[in-house]
Amino acid sequence: MTINEIRTKYLEFFKANGHTIIPSAPIVPQNDPTTLFTGSGMQPLVPYLLGEPHPQGSRLVNSQKSFRAEDIEEVGDNRHTTFFEMLGNWSLGDYFKEEQLPFFFKFLTEEIGLDPKNLYVTAFIGDEKNNVPQDVESATIWTKLFSEKGIDAKVVSIGSEADGYRLGMQGGRIFFYDAKKNWWSRAGIPENMPAGEPGGPDSEVFYDFGTLHDVKFGAECHPNCDCGRFLEIGNSVFMQYIKKEDGSFALLPKQNVDFGGGLERIAAAAQGNPDVFAIDVFADTIGLLIHFSGKEYLDSRYQRSFRIVADHMRAAMFMLEAGVRPSNTERGYILRRLIRRAAQHAQKLGVEHGQGTDSMLVKCASIFIEKYKQAYPELQGDDVYRQITEEIWKEERQFAHTLEAGMKEFEKIAATGHIEAQEAYTLFTTHGFPFEMTLELAKERGLDVDSEGFKKEMDKHRAMSRAGSEQKFKGGLADQSEKTTRLHTAHHLLLKALQMVLGPMVKQRGSNITQERLRIDFSYGSKMTPEQKIEVERIVNKKIQEHLPMIRSTLPKEEAEQLGAEHEFGARYPDMVSVYSLGPKNATAENPQFDEAFSIEFCGGPHVANTSELAGTFKIQKEEAVAAGIRRIKAVIV
Ligand code: ALA
Repeated sequence: MTINEIRTKYLEFFKANGHTIIPSAPIVPQNDPTTLFTGSGMQPLVPYLLGEPHPQGSRLVNSQKSFRAEDIEEVGDNRHTTFFEMLGNWSLGDYFKEEQLPFFFKFLTEEIGLDPKNLYVTAFIGDEKNNVPQDVESATIWTKLFSEKGIDAKVVSIGSEADGYRLGMQGGRIFFYDAKKNWWSRAGIPENMPAGEPGGPDSEVFYDFGTLHDVKFGAECHPNCDCGRFLEIGNSVFMQYIKKEDGSFALLPKQNVDFGGGLERIAAAAQGNPDVFAIDVFADTIGLLIHFSGKEYLDSRYQRSFRIVADHMRAAMFMLEAGVRPSNTERGYILRRLIRRAAQHAQKLGVEHGQGTDSMLVKCASIFIEKYKQAYPELQGDDVYRQITEEIWKEERQFAHTLEAGMKEFEKIAATGHIEAQEAYTLFTTHGFPFEMTLELAKERGLDVDSEGFKKEMDKHRAMSRAGSEQKFKGGLADQSEKTTRLHTAHHLLLKALQMVLGPMVKQRGSNITQERLRIDFSYGSKMTPEQKIEVERIVNKKIQEHLPMIRSTLPKEEAEQLGAEHEFGARYPDMVSVYSLGPKNATAENPQFDEAFSIEFCGGPHVANTSELAGTFKIQKEEAVAAGIRRIKAVIV
C-alpha cells in the first residue's frame, strides 16, 4: 500500500464518520510562537481545543506536514525522519474514548488490514499528585475491541520506562505507563506545562514487527522499548485538562480528542517491514542514489547515508516550499544543515555531483515534488519547482566554497605536523568543515587526529545549544497567558500601523510572541526612519487608548478575502475561516461593522476583548534587517 493510498483511506474513513477534511497548515507556523516548525497536527488547532468553536465543526480530520528538528541526529536508523506526515483526527467536545479507540482500531485492522495480533496498546496509569485518575476506561474499551477479534487481551501495569525494561511483557497486550509515556501536551509531562496549556492522558498503539529483542537496550522488551521490535503508530490524546496559574489542573470546558499517527510508520507496519525508508515514497530517490553510487542500500557502511540524503532532501523540499531560505539563524539554519548534511552524505556514497538541475540533490528533491504534488497542491506549478531547485543548487555551491576555504585552513594546520582536537573542532564550528573530512584528509597524510577529544568538544557544544533551544522553546511557548494574548492583539495593531506609515505593500512574513515581547517580520526594503517609528508607535498607542473591541467572526473564505483581511503568507485556508476585526467602538459580534474596522486579519486567536486590556504604552525596541527585503521589529508594552 502506498502512502497516497493510506492517506486517502484515512481521510475517507473519517469523512464517512462525520469528519470534515481540513487542509494541512503550513510547515512554518504563523502567529504561533510555540516552535519554529509545525511538529504535530494539533498545533494550529490549539485555540479550538481550548474552547473556541471551529468554523468547520466539531469533527475534523487531516494529514499535517510536520517537521521535528530535534530528530535530525537520530536520522539514519530505521525509523526516524525529520519531516513526516501526521494523520490527525479531532473531536472538539464531540465524541470521546468510546468512539475514538474503536475508530482507530477499525481503521488499522479493516482499512489497512493489519493483523490485530500484532497490535499492542498503552494507557495512562494515573497521577495522584495532579489528581488525574488511572485511565481504566481505555483499558476496558481495548479489552472489548481485542476480544471481538478473538484475542484475550491481558492488562498489565508497568509504570516507568525503567520498570518496563525490568518487568517485560508479562504476557500483556494492554499496558499502563506513567506520564512520561502516556500523557501528552506540547510541553510534555504535567510538571513542564505552563499555565494555560492544554494536555491530557493518551493511549498509544504499537505495531509488533516480531524482531528479536536486543538486550543492549535493557534486560526485557516491552512496548516502549527502543530495540525496534515495537513501533508506535498512533496516539489518541484525551485533551481534557488545562493547567491553572496555581499549578493544579482543571477540566477544559470541552472534552476533546487529539489523535496523531505517523503516516510513514503506518505504511511500514502495512508492509511488515520496520524500515520506514523501505516505503514507496523513498523508493525512487534511494533507487537513484543506488544507481549513481553503485553502492548497495543494505550495505551497513552506506545505509545511514542513503537514509540521511533521502530524509533531508524531502524535508528541505517542503521547507523551501514554505518560504524558508538557507541562512545562519533559526529556520534558515536548520534548512542549511539539512542540505549540507545531505551533500556530505551524497559525497560519502560517491555519487557524482552534477551541476545545476543535474545536481544529485536537486534530482532527489524533484522526485519528492512529483511524489507529493497530488496530495499537496501548493507544490504544483513551475514557479515553486524553480524556486526549490534553484535554492538547493545555490546552497550546494556555497557549501562547496566553504569546503574550499576550509581546505586552506586544514592545509595550514596539517603543515604543523599534527592536528589537535581543538583545531578539528574550530575547523568544524568556524569554517563549517566536517569532521569526517578532517579525518579522511589526515589519514591520507599519515597524521593522527584526537577523535575522543573532538567528541568531547562536540558534546560540550551540543549540551550548550540544547540548553539554548530548551530555553527558547520554553520562553516561546504559546501559553495563552494574559501577557501573550495582549501582545498578540498589539501585533495586529502594529501590522496595520506599519501599512499606514510605510505603505499597503507591507506584508507580514513571520511572527513570534512571548510573554515579554512581540516580534514581527515584514516585507519592506529599507531601514525605518526614527520619524516613521515614532509615527507607528503613536498610531498603536492611540488605538489602545480608544478602547476598541476585538471581534471574532466566522466567515466563508471568499467573503473574508473580499473584506481585505490580512492572510498568512503561503497558507491555505478551509472554506470557513475565523477572522479578527478591531473596532469601531460600537462593533459587536452580531454586527462587526467591517467597513469601519481598523484592522481585519485571518486569525485563530486568542485576543483580548478590548484594547483597553492592553493597559500600557506600546514601544518599539528594535528595528533591523533579517533578510533581503525583510525587516524585523521587536516591541513591548510597558
Ligand atoms: N498531538 C499528539 C502527538 O503529537 C497526537 O502525538
